[in-house]
Amino acid sequence: MPLSPPFIEQAAQALMRGELVAFPTETVYGLGADAADPAAVARIYAAKGRPSNHPVIVHVAKPEDIVSWCKDIPDQAWRLAKAFWPGPLTLILKRHPDVDAAVSGGQTTIGVRCPAHPVTRELLTMFGELKQQANEARAGVAAPSANRFGRVSPTCAQHVRSEFADLVAQGMPVLEGGDSEVGIESTIIDLSSVSSGGAPALLRPGAISAEQVAAVLGQAVIGHQASSPRVSGSLKAHYAPSTPLALCESGECQEKVKAWLTDHQGKGEGQGRLAVLTRGPSMAAPSARVVVISMPRDALAYGQTLYATLRELDEMGVAAAIVENVPNKPVWAGVRDRLVRAAAAFEDGH
Ligand code: TXA
Ligand code: MG
Repeated sequence: MPLSPPFIEQAAQALMRGELVAFPTETVYGLGADAADPAAVARIYAAKGRPSNHPVIVHVAKPEDIVSWCKDIPDQAWRLAKAFWPGPLTLILKRHPDVDAAVSGGQTTIGVRCPAHPVTRELLTMFGELKQQANEARAGVAAPSANRFGRVSPTCAQHVRSEFADLVAQGMPVLEGGDSEVGIESTIIDLSSVSSGGAPALLRPGAISAEQVAAVLGQAVIGHQASSPRVSGSLKAHYAPSTPLALCESGECQEKVKAWLTDHQGKGEGQGRLAVLTRGPSMAAPSARVVVISMPRDALAYGQTLYATLRELDEMGVAAAIVENVPNKPVWAGVRDRLVRAAAAFEDGH
């Protein structure tokens, strides 16, 4: 896809004016604003409908730029940056005292990431140059995923345009960057307490596994603790499509589908169709009312296509979806986490 530098520069200028810009990353598309401008950051929260106590990630052009945003950066952070940046890893560190608390939802920590997508690296570099010309030292773009709060993250520019049609109509730039290569959000590792003897903690699984992080650190990474700082992606129900979605274990799919068809016969909603997401070769559709979608057998390929597939379910107008769960193995942790949370949105009590 041809990338147009003038367009990227216009986007960098929009950020300088405190406006919002949507941009591609290798994980998902982001909805960005100048992280040093609390009013601009507030626009992100308003656009997403996100509670203001949920922190956002600051995206930087180069790993060394995190010194403007964080303090007491431990050696572990530099080791992970060297191994995985630019790339799909977010580090939670102590917030620099000069950085406004708004960007980290009022917390004393801050999330930072150096993304790999070439369009966004260019955007961040240009933004840094404009900041320097304006004699401002701190250049970073605060950005959550470019979706409404609780919904599925966008993995192509078209998803962003449909999610924020109102902002696009008002002139918000949406930088084009093709389909996101990773497709699920970055792995989040909390290092904010390692300098006081705490262990690195996994707050959100992603394409970079906790095992890979532990191997670089030579230190165990603990799972998500109840006392860890708030992560909206760790709410039990999150990342959900509108189509009611239920998980089933491998081998139970046929049975679940039959039960659904029996339950939905002759009732009003019995007219609806059911989507079944299987892993690998499709199972035969037992009825014209069942649409079988075959998902990749490989974890990274599955992650790449997951969110686009969830959006397609909504577009197809199926009544419900049954998803064959993925293996409980480290390489699948990110995908499994997103599927469990998407399904949780439709469980009793929600
Ligand atoms: O891949 C990604 O990380 C994408 C792209 C755009 O970079 N961004 C993304 O942002 O997923 P968002 O806001 O949708 O999710 C970021 C997560 C949130 O769950 C937030 O609570 C958590 O990071 N987070 C950010 N700063 C934090 C902090 N200081 N402490 C704990 N969690 C934090
Ligand atoms: Mg998000």
